[in-house]
Amino acid sequence: MPAVIVLGAQWGDEGKGKATDQLGSHADYVVKYNGGNNAGHTVVVGDEKFALHLLPSGILSPNCVPFIGNGVVVDLEVLFQEIEALESRGVDTSRLRISASAHIITSYTRALDAISEKGLGDHKLGTTGRGIGPTYADKMSRVGLRIQDLFDEEALRQKVASALAQKNVFLQALGEKPFVVDDVVATLLSYADRVRPLVADGVYELNKALDEGKTVVLEGGQATMLDIDHGTYPYVTSSNATAGGACTGSGIGPTRIDRVVGVMKAYVTRVGEGPFPTELLGADGEWLREKGGEYGVTTGRPRRCGWYDAPLARYAHSVNGLTDIVLTKLDVLSELEKIPVCVAYEIDGKRTEEVPAFQSDFRKAKPIYEYVPGWKEDISGCETFEDLPEAAREYVLYLERVSHCRISSIGVGPGREQMIIRHELVG
Ligand code: GDP
Ligand code: IMO
Ligand code: MG
Repeated sequence: MPAVIVLGAQWGDEGKGKATDQLGSHADYVVKYNGGNNAGHTVVVGDEKFALHLLPSGILSPNCVPFIGNGVVVDLEVLFQEIEALESRGVDTSRLRISASAHIITSYTRALDAISEKGLGDHKLGTTGRGIGPTYADKMSRVGLRIQDLFDEEALRQKVASALAQKNVFLQALGEKPFVVDDVVATLLSYADRVRPLVADGVYELNKALDEGKTVVLEGGQATMLDIDHGTYPYVTSSNATAGGACTGSGIGPTRIDRVVGVMKAYVTRVGEGPFPTELLGADGEWLREKGGEYGVTTGRPRRCGWYDAPLARYAHSVNGLTDIVLTKLDVLSELEKIPVCVAYEIDGKRTEEVPAFQSDFRKAKPIYEYVPGWKEDISGCETFEDLPEAAREYVLYLERVSHCRISSIGVGPGREQMIIRHELVG
């Protein structure tokens, strides 16, 4: 039975939370495989709106086990704040599991994120400031702390001391206050008893679930173009948000994956710095931002907005091996006379159909647009593909052709039910 990856195919905030929540009712597990509380997923259930950062979207589906995979970085303070906030709204969080191998965001990796951004000055990345980059850097440098370290005080103390021996020299050189090993250890240990009952081994638990015919949804945070290897480096996050990351970040092998679902908006947005060929800096961008409510869930920053970018979609299709697209926010485009779609780029006077390998070229890419007729009707109540106005159907079919992948679901509003299903993804 299926393992389904749901990931962002643009620059984040495509509506992954909603797409995953929809699958949650069919899923036995929803596994977050990368990132941390840099993510912000909005899920609207009836009249209630939930903003999830660290917890997998499956937390809102009563029959599903939400699982924080080994590829995630966990801020323990945020974890328990989020759990308490959901419990106070009547959401049962007791099924939550956390991989023993997930890394921990500490007070010093959070501080180093801010210091690094300050040091970059005009070249700052515009991170979410949650300590993501320095925590993954420690993981790769093999001086990171993992969930399992909370249960061996002596080893934990030694690891914190080793990490701080280097970092405090750096911090003091910059005139910052050094961190005290005992304080850091005491804070971390204060969470140990609450974390212990949640700890799990993803490799055995998730593969066993698949062996038993259960459905496992692997939920990506961030997105393809923010991926540390395949995104617009260095304007990226520090994890693998792409499909490969779902395997390494959960402990499930690639031969077990049945579907790879890329979530895309019917246009494109981005928060933070970095290249964005179809970005609209004038009134059209403002119109999209207001109509689409394009403000960050995590930082509240206004999102940069632009038209749909087909070379980007084709790139996401290649990198991830997409089997399906979930197209969200089609409703936002109602009222337009005609809708521009970027079909290729012009770089140094030459047309290219592809996202270039060199970032120095990508920064120069100018969009080449084709124009598709728009529609005036409000489509937020449409339940089937046939309910959509003909022009909206044609727009979807056009995007399908230029993106080289079938569009299986279409979002027409933020609500759980506001999704037109053309092809079932599980079940
Ligand atoms: P995520 O990070 O990919 O989960 O996406 P975010 O939650 O950060 O941003 C997506 C926003 O779009 C949220 O406010 C959702 O409630 C909203 N949304 C999702 N799908 C649709 C849709 O089809 N139409 C509209 N109008 N809003 C949607
Ligand atoms: P979801 O899961 C959009 C961006 C930040 C910044 C860059 C690096 O909601 O789609 P980081 O704090 O990760 O080191 O920041 O990545 N970024 C996101 N942009 N959606 C997200 O998550 C993001 N998570 C990080 O704005 O440009
Ligand atoms: Mg988001």
